[in-house]
Formats: sequence, structure tokens, C-alpha cells
Amino acid sequence: MTAAISIEALTKTYAARGQQVRAVDGLDLEIPQGGIFGFLGANGAGKTTTIRAIVGHMRATSGTIRVFDMPVPKHLPSIIDRVGALVEAPLFFPNFSGRKNLSLLARSRGFPQERVDSVLATVGLTDRAGSRFATYSLGMKQRLGVASVLLKDPDLLILDEPANGLDPPGILEMRKLMRDLSAQGKTVFVSSHILSEIEHTCDRVAIIARGKLVRTGSVQEILSTGTTSRYTVKVPGDSAVRDNAARSLLAAGWSVFADEHGEMLVDVAAERAHEITAHLANDGLWVSELAPVARTLEAAFLELTADAQGGAQ
Ligand SMILES: Nc1ncnc2c1ncn2[C@@H]1O[C@H](COP(=O)(O)OP(=O)(O)O)[C@@H](O)[C@H]1O
Ligand SMILES: [Mg+2]
Repeated sequence: MTAAISIEALTKTYAARGQQVRAVDGLDLEIPQGGIFGFLGANGAGKTTTIRAIVGHMRATSGTIRVFDMPVPKHLPSIIDRVGALVEAPLFFPNFSGRKNLSLLARSRGFPQERVDSVLATVGLTDRAGSRFATYSLGMKQRLGVASVLLKDPDLLILDEPANGLDPPGILEMRKLMRDLSAQGKTVFVSSHILSEIEHTCDRVAIIARGKLVRTGSVQEILSTGTTSRYTVKVPGDSAVRDNAARSLLAAGWSVFADEHGEMLVDVAAERAHEITAHLANDGLWVSELAPVARTLEAAFLELTADAQGGAQ
């Protein structure tokens, strides 16, 4: 099966105040059809620039992009009906209801009016469809935006940071929506700088930093890379004992943290973990538990992008 999106050596250089900014720098990326693909990178990494090039909002400096095997922007007209993209927040009339806003869009673009109620149901806005747009929460506004790009019933959805600014319930609803759309057989390509979003929603991810691909693979593959693991270290006794242990490890140069329950965490290469026990025993402190904590995508992400982030800005 052809890829939904296939990008080769994509480069985009902006000229800003006499300076050249290389926002995307030789990016290669392949997004298969089906599933939810996360496009992960810090602010300024080049996600929006890449997405704008894919959907033809902007011309790349060099490189090639194919969507459903058709080169874009050249053949954009032949695939655009299959692609729904939410890059900038769409403009809705604040005093019209969600349904009225979508109806107007459907009419202007020649989509059947039945689609309006169907997409409102998909995004979970049926109950509030008659309320004025201005009264919607940010999450509802975002979902109406998604509904607007679903009117054409696209095979590929491209969502640029749809969870940005949402409160936790809004984030959960957006996640569910992406899963529902994926379950309907649509390919979802979603960008985020919020690592936990990607970790919990996506099947595959690509991590970019400074316009370059750092890593791509399944979430599982990415989680299993890297050399450092995080361990919970418990010592019997009260918090003073724990503080002593933490101080002792810190003084010896270990990376020591506390989790949200005040438990002590230490980042260390797996083959050196036993040295924690030896070090503390030397100080008369006995370790009652030394257990690896499940790695988060965040740990893998920070490790993978450390070199790219550390360069001169
Ligand atoms: N229109 C523009 N003119 C000049 N520089 C830009 C423009 N758009 C983005 N950039 C720069 O390109 C880099 C990548 O930006 P962007 O693609 O928006 O990243 P992201 O979406 O990952 O936050 C940043 O350094 C940003 O400042
Ligand atoms: Mg962006």
C-alpha cells in the first residue's frame, strides 16, 4: 500500500530580518496509511512548517512531498478531497450556532447538508450544536474545527497541535476523537510538543528537533531506545533517612529526583544500578527496594534530542 504521506529531503528556509532560518532541514518522513501518527517536537522544531508544506499552504525550498503517491503541491488538486487539515484555527461566526456555521461551510463547498449532523455527532457536539459558537469551551471550538474538516470525509486528517491550550477533559475528548477517526479507517497525522499526548494516543511517532528527524518508529520502539533508566530507590525509615540517602547520592554525582509522592528516583545506566546499593551501604544506609520505573516517552525524547537541542542557537 502506498504511504499516506512521504517526504524526502524537505528543506524550508525562511528569510527573516536579513537572516536565514532553516526551519526544516533535510527531513525524510514516511507516514503509512492507517493508525495515528504523532509528529513530536519542541516549539520551533519545524512541525507547522512541515505541515504547511504538505497541505500546500507554503512552498518548500527543496525536497519532495507525496500525498497518496501524488507529488504536492503540483498534484494537490487531485488529492485535496482526501485530505482534511486543521493547521490554523478556522474562523467561525461567534453569534451563529455550531450547526449554522457548519451548514454555511457545507453549502459554500457543495457538501450535502446531511454531513453536518453526521460530523457534529462524530466530534460529540450534537447536544450543543444549536448553541452559539461564542458559548463553546476551547475544547468544543477545537472539535468544531475538526468537524469542519471532516465535512469532505477525508481519508487523511492532519491536525497541528489540536490539544494546545485544552484543559484535561478537553485533551481526553480530543484523544478519543482521534481514536474514533482512526477506528473509522482514517489516517491521523497529529503534531504535538506535549509528549504525553503522543505517548498515549499514537501508534507511531516521528521526533524532530531543529528541522531534522531525530527518530521514527512505533512508540514501543522509541521507548526501548536509550541507555539510561530511572530507578525508584527506597530506604527504610522516615523522611530524614531518605533525605540523607538523597544527599549522599547527590554528593557523589548521581542524578537524583523526587517523584510526586516524594519517593526517590535515580537516573542511571542499567548496568550500574547495583552501585546505588553499594554506595548507600557504604554510608550505613540500607536499600529496601531498587526497581526500574517504566520509561516514559519524555525520557526517551529528552535523551534523543539532547544533542540537537544543545547546539548553538
Ligand atoms: N513565516 C516565518 N518567517 C520566519 N521564520 C519562521 C516563519 N515561520 C516559522 N519560522 C521559524 O521556523 C522555525 C520552525 O517554526 P515552526 O515550523 O512554526 O515550528 P513548530 O511548529 O514546531 O513550533 C522557528 O524557528 C520559527 O521561528
Ligand atoms: Mg507549530
